[in-house]
Amino acid sequence: METQMHQDVEKILLTEAQIRERVSEAARWLDARMEGKFPLVVSVLKGSVMFFCDLVRAMKTSVQMDFMTISSYGSGSVSSGNLKLLMDLSSSVEGRDVILVEDIVDSGNTLVKMKELLSGRGAKSLTTIAFLDKPSRRQVDVSADYTCFTVGNEFIVGYGLDYAQKYRDLPYVGVLKREVYEGK
Ligand code: PRP
Repeated sequence: METQMHQDVEKILLTEAQIRERVSEAARWLDARMEGKFPLVVSVLKGSVMFFCDLVRAMKTSVQMDFMTISSYGSGSVSSGNLKLLMDLSSSVEGRDVILVEDIVDSGNTLVKMKELLSGRGAKSLTTIAFLDKPSRRQVDVSADYTCFTVGNEFIVGYGLDYAQKYRDLPYVGVLKREVYEGK
């Protein structure tokens, strides 16, 4: 029987197989770039957690994992660029080859701030990788060094992306039915 979570999805945009293939390409790209290094891979919680777990497992390079929780505050659904650090990394980034893993680059504000933060802490190199890119919503001119998929301006959920903290555990990326977020 279909669960409610799946019923709320209008259509599947990226299947599990498509995601697996692209994530493995991303892992190969990172492996080539990180040859001979022991990178610190940073997951920006919570959205990037699924991508992060699949990515590090697909990589051949041995990595150190760390996590950071940030929240954007301000009004509206677009992040304002003011980031609040809710949980910091447990390791130092100084002198490290850092890989920043994001689920989505939307306005771009979070990526800009995160890059500033990590570079400011003295990372030796910084590579940014995003599972999704939504260029139609961009407010600042920035993009990740590697992007798995570019999406249109649709309300998407799954594979880490939420709506009101729900749907992150969907194994695919789907478009949410309008009636769900408009309250019918
Ligand atoms: C989302 C996403 C990115 C950011 C992208 O995080 O994970 O970090 O927004 O948006 P931007 O490009 O407009 O800055 P969110 O604050 O929703 O938290 P979450 O990861 O816990 O869902």
